[in-house]
Amino acid sequence: MSASPANTTPSPAAHPDPDAPSGTDPGAGARSGLAAAVARRRTFAIISHPDAGKTTLTEKLLLFGGAIQLAGTVKARRSSRHATSDWMEVEKQRGISVTSSVMQFDYAGHTINLLDTPGHEDFSEDTYRVLTAVDAAVMVIDAAKGVEAQTLKLLEVCRLRNTPIITFVNKLDREVRAPLSLLEEIESALKIECAPISWPIGMGKSFRGVYHLLEDRLLRFTAGAEKRTAVEEIHGLDNPKLDELFPAEVASLRSDVGLIREASSPFERGLFLAGRQSPVFFGSGINNFGVQEVLQALVDWAPAPQPRDGGSRVIKPTEPDFSGFVFKIQANMDPKHRDRIAFFRLCSGQYQPGMKARHLRSGREMKLGNALTFMANERVTSTGAVAGDIIGIYNHGQLQIGDTLSMGEALVFRGIPYFAPELFRAARPRDPMKSKQLQKGLKELGEEGAIQVFSARQGAQILLGAVGRLQFEIVAHRLSAEYNVDAAYDNVDIYTARWLTFPDDATRRKFEKDEAMSLAEDVDGNPVFLSGNKYNLKLTLERWPTVGFHATREHGERLGA
Ligand code: G4P
Repeated sequence: MSASPANTTPSPAAHPDPDAPSGTDPGAGARSGLAAAVARRRTFAIISHPDAGKTTLTEKLLLFGGAIQLAGTVKARRSSRHATSDWMEVEKQRGISVTSSVMQFDYAGHTINLLDTPGHEDFSEDTYRVLTAVDAAVMVIDAAKGVEAQTLKLLEVCRLRNTPIITFVNKLDREVRAPLSLLEEIESALKIECAPISWPIGMGKSFRGVYHLLEDRLLRFTAGAEKRTAVEEIHGLDNPKLDELFPAEVASLRSDVGLIREASSPFERGLFLAGRQSPVFFGSGINNFGVQEVLQALVDWAPAPQPRDGGSRVIKPTEPDFSGFVFKIQANMDPKHRDRIAFFRLCSGQYQPGMKARHLRSGREMKLGNALTFMANERVTSTGAVAGDIIGIYNHGQLQIGDTLSMGEALVFRGIPYFAPELFRAARPRDPMKSKQLQKGLKELGEEGAIQVFSARQGAQILLGAVGRLQFEIVAHRLSAEYNVDAAYDNVDIYTARWLTFPDDATRRKFEKDEAMSLAEDVDGNPVFLSGNKYNLKLTLERWPTVGFHATREHGERLGA
């Protein structure tokens, strides 16, 4: 990683404005060092529908960033798609995902943090959490297929935070759809204005390259360039070399470029940063074509780490005091050691090895000993990190998704919700002696975000709630592999869950008495209403107009009267 900025002495009480003129302030040097290091950061994720080319693009970005030398390093994940069963696929992904969940590399004087999003649609919650930790996203569209279901969902998530999005239209080396119709579809389906930055010439066998509309140069396509190759450039639309090289296409190239320049919206960085306009690049990831332009756009246009709402106030990334939040937990990578890694996004200040920070949910101080930095294909002990970076913190269960760490100030970085599950099963150990183990395993898997766990108020049933079916398979597999519990998972008649808030204690008591059969508690002890069907939910809502029924809940949040 890049050199860390000079040390600063953390002071929980003071929050000097790092952007203010320095004068004779002795801390000014350190602060401007921090500000410069933060300004160099770009933290982003790639989003796409499965098979559009996310893995390929990831790999090529790493190749251009010099983080890997050979294509194929990330391919393990790609081949895992051919695994025989779904859970095996995900299990394999999990196996390598600790090293590939976050990939840091340097490019053009910047430090890039690329966050991986799980490919499988059943893991939309995981993806959602990852997207809370980025400042920008690259959206990959398969040019033959256009906007697909998962792209739509992911874009909705990005829109919640107005995340700026760069679009990469992939697979131009195949017979694909007309570029103009793709742009129209992106604009109408995703409700985001498109500003084409490059424009393709031909497709499939007659794909000649792309014309860079802003830089007025043609990048010539050569097929089969599986490794990093220099791309031939021809400057200017009137360049006679174009007539020489592409006698058949040059006329339509000139008219297309003229037309698209007139008809499309010009790129405006302000609109892009506001999440309202997306610069669009065309290319072919597998052929390394158009990839460098995406990387350059990230460096030139994507935002540096952004200020975050810390609950009581907005936290600037350049503030000297360390703060941030956990957005992902990876547990039991080595079942013998029961280790957990919390993926932590720094929102301000810097991390230094061995430093102490306040864990705000428990109020305790935590020593952050050997945090990890994630490189392209290895994890290393972090020598320092600044706002925008992701570090991995080893812990034994103290850290949960959504937890905030600070130097003492009572901050809460919000915006990582649990979603009401719509699939339910009741779990019971086949061997009654294993009931404690089952509870422990489910508690830990629940904290990791692998599944949601509820306990029924009556009958002591343990209920599992999921957003995708595959989550049950994985939990069953992991319970048996990591906790040695063989459990049965029975179907239950539950349609959905709602977290409850009550206007007062009397209403809560009455509700608990009248609706006892439908009540449960989540892992944090929050009251939950379990509904058997849509109509029952509607009727209950009408019957209890003053009670709050919530489809989401923030991690770490305590509900109730
Ligand atoms: P994903 O992570 O979004 O699921 O997609 P991934 O990169 O794994 O790509 C899905 C398939 O599309 C792969 O083919 C990959 O080689 C291919 N692909 C990616 N980019 C391009 C491109 O620019 N042009 C063409 N023609 N194909 C591309 P596969 O056959 O499923 O896998 P593999 O056997 O190549 O590993």
